Amino acid sequence: MLGHFPLTLVLLSATLDLATAALTGIHQAGYCSYYGECGRNPEINVSLLWSPVPCLSNTPARLLKDATLSKLKEVCPQLYTGENTTYACCSYNQLVALQLSLAISQAVLTRCPACSENFANIYCQNICSPNQSLFTNVTRFFNRTTILGTRQVGVLEYQCFYNQSFADQSYDSCKGVRIPATGGYAIAAMCGKYGATLCTSQRWLDFQGDSSNGLAPLDIDFQLVPANGAVGEGIVPLNGKTWRCSEAVSADGEPCSCLDCAESCPQIPTPTPQPPPPPFKVGSLDGVLFVCCLLFCLLTVLFGAFLVWRCVSRSRQASSKGRQRQRDQMTRPALSWECPGG
Ligand SMILES: *[C@@H]1O[C@H](CO)[C@@H](O)[C@H](O)[C@H]1NC(C)=O
Ligand SMILES: *[C@@H]1O[C@H](CO)[C@@H](O)[C@H](O)[C@H]1NC(C)=O
Ligand SMILES: *[C@@H]1O[C@H](CO)[C@@H](O)[C@H](O)[C@H]1NC(C)=O
Ligand SMILES: *[C@@H]1O[C@H](CO)[C@@H](O)[C@H](O)[C@H]1NC(C)=O
Ligand SMILES: *[C@@H]1O[C@H](CO)[C@@H](O)[C@H](O)[C@H]1NC(C)=O
Ligand SMILES: *[C@@H]1O[C@H](CO)[C@@H](O)[C@H](O)[C@H]1NC(C)=O
Repeated sequence: MLGHFPLTLVLLSATLDLATAALTGIHQAGYCSYYGECGRNPEINVSLLWSPVPCLSNTPARLLKDATLSKLKEVCPQLYTGENTTYACCSYNQLVALQLSLAISQAVLTRCPACSENFANIYCQNICSPNQSLFTNVTRFFNRTTILGTRQVGVLEYQCFYNQSFADQSYDSCKGVRIPATGGYAIAAMCGKYGATLCTSQRWLDFQGDSSNGLAPLDIDFQLVPANGAVGEGIVPLNGKTWRCSEAVSADGEPCSCLDCAESCPQIPTPTPQPPPPPFKVGSLDGVLFVCCLLFCLLTVLFGAFLVWRCVSRSRQASSKGRQRQRDQMTRPALSWECPGG
């Protein structure tokens, strides 16, 4: 409990400054917006899962050690950066609570590891990222006093800024996943009143951050920032790695099946229209015209040759059988051609 005394001081001073300063005054890498557990949300009467809200704490991320570090490795391995270099904004108890709530969603998303991983990443980043204050901004809080008389400030609502494409990619990896028992889409149960057909990345996240859904301990106002959009106040929208549902998450893992992920279905080759063959050309002349001319010339030559041959053979006949020729000319049809000089 070495870190307990300064932490209490920080919380006390935070309580006193609330009236004047913004709830998350420092938006900086390595800084938290909230940390630890601050009891139940006083605005929620009915909850399916008892999960406490975090305490307001715009302070540097903590270096994780021992049990907390191994828990982080187990629940949010993507945030582990090494033995002495892993900082985070969550406590051991928060990691245990996170593990429990992720177990529920993972039972539903189990058929598609990529989706399950992307979904868990959203929660890990929100609750534990050492850069939490970069993309979150607390907007509502409540005062509470512990049994020991310590005054604390709990978080009731925060804004969460995500890169639009990061949110879309996470959503896309999950939108086709089916619940094994019913065969229906898992997102139908994760999008509130919109169901599967009207669900979008924004609506999907909004439902995760809606405390009236019976699971979320507080309200999260998700703001998806489009490409080259800016927020100001030093806020940087979260943009992390996502897995496509057709990708295996680990080396020995498998991509999601075709049933859960349209991208994984075998590609049916779409019949691409054959490009028209290049026009038939001989030199710069149209090929067909060229062939016709050639054929015409050939036929003309052949016909000419035939006529010459006939004349020659006829004049031979004439010289040998003069009388025969006379008779022939009588019976020949009018449309005939006389050899010149024949
Ligand atoms: C962050 O939260 C404060 C209230 O604590 C609010 O005044 C401010 O407008 C918020 N920032 C943005 C970018 O919305
Ligand atoms: C936090 O931000 C720093 C600086 O932008 C970056 O180097 C680091 O990778 C971030 N850490 C995580 C866990 O996103
Ligand atoms: C919770 O209960 C209190 C009184 O016990 C009531 O005033 C409040 O409206 C209830 N809130 C919700 C969200 O039902
Ligand atoms: C972490 O720090 C401890 C003591 O500060 C040291 O004994 C250990 O070798 C360090 N581990 C790594 C991986 O650097
Ligand atoms: C919390 O307590 C501070 C004084 O310590 C007070 O200024 C503030 O209005 C209280 N806020 C709420 C929501 O009760
Ligand atoms: C979101 O991510 C995309 C791709 O990584 C990037 O091109 C874009 O600039 C990012 N947008 C913001 C607002 O950071």
